[in-house]
Amino acid sequence: MPKKLIVANWKMNLSPKNSLEFLRKLKTYNFKLKTFELVICPSFLSLPEIKSLIPDFKFLIHVGAQDCFWAERGAYTGEISPADLREIGCKYVIIGHSERRQYLKETDEMINFKLKAALSAGLVPIFCLGESQSERDRGQAESRVRIQLKAGLTGISLKKNQKIFIAYEPVWAIGTGKFCPPNEAVRMHHLIKKEAGRFLKIKNVPVLYGGSVDDKNVADYLKQEEVDGVLVGGASAKADIFLSLLRKIGRSKD
Ligand code: PGA
Repeated sequence: MPKKLIVANWKMNLSPKNSLEFLRKLKTYNFKLKTFELVICPSFLSLPEIKSLIPDFKFLIHVGAQDCFWAERGAYTGEISPADLREIGCKYVIIGHSERRQYLKETDEMINFKLKAALSAGLVPIFCLGESQSERDRGQAESRVRIQLKAGLTGISLKKNQKIFIAYEPVWAIGTGKFCPPNEAVRMHHLIKKEAGRFLKIKNVPVLYGGSVDDKNVADYLKQEEVDGVLVGGASAKADIFLSLLRKIGRSKD
């Protein structure tokens, strides 16, 4: 059984100083995360230093970026190359987060380019998608997700050593405290696995759930077979809540 992924998306919540303090605190624990893999996604500025602290941990952590650009090199002021992320030891990269779609006007086409670039750089993309509240109210949750999947995965066929995660993140559940009931998440995951499997021509595409996951509800998602992990935003940037979440899913020896 592949390990379930716990992705901490710190967004822009922690300064470089706060990020290091958080990591140092986490380092003092010895979690037994036998069936889970932990991924910390700090801001770009904190990535290299966070990565350098990882070998001192008593349990395995990977680092991921919150975004990347679609070209490897060139005149793209302010952008971050996926190859550079790989060079500093990043394993994962979040692509197509709804906050980037909303505030940076990222389109499905840009997301498709980024997914391709991340895969060719040797990163594992976490491809985020999900419907808005009004789309759900109009009964369009399924069709919205299908459109995003099709556009995002166009022209992608995974090579043997490549992997992609899809993160089902209903926009109405992000940062609102209004999490998607686990049985509804399971229904959507089922659809996403089926559709993504059809586009990618592979079986059992791993799908994460994200949207108001915290220490109280995390176990309800992770016990579902169709949920291959969680993407935790707000609750992952608060040390006490995140430590409590990790204690719920793994054993701490401390
Ligand atoms: P949230 O964010 O956990 O704060 O709802 C999740 C995400 O945006 O990935």
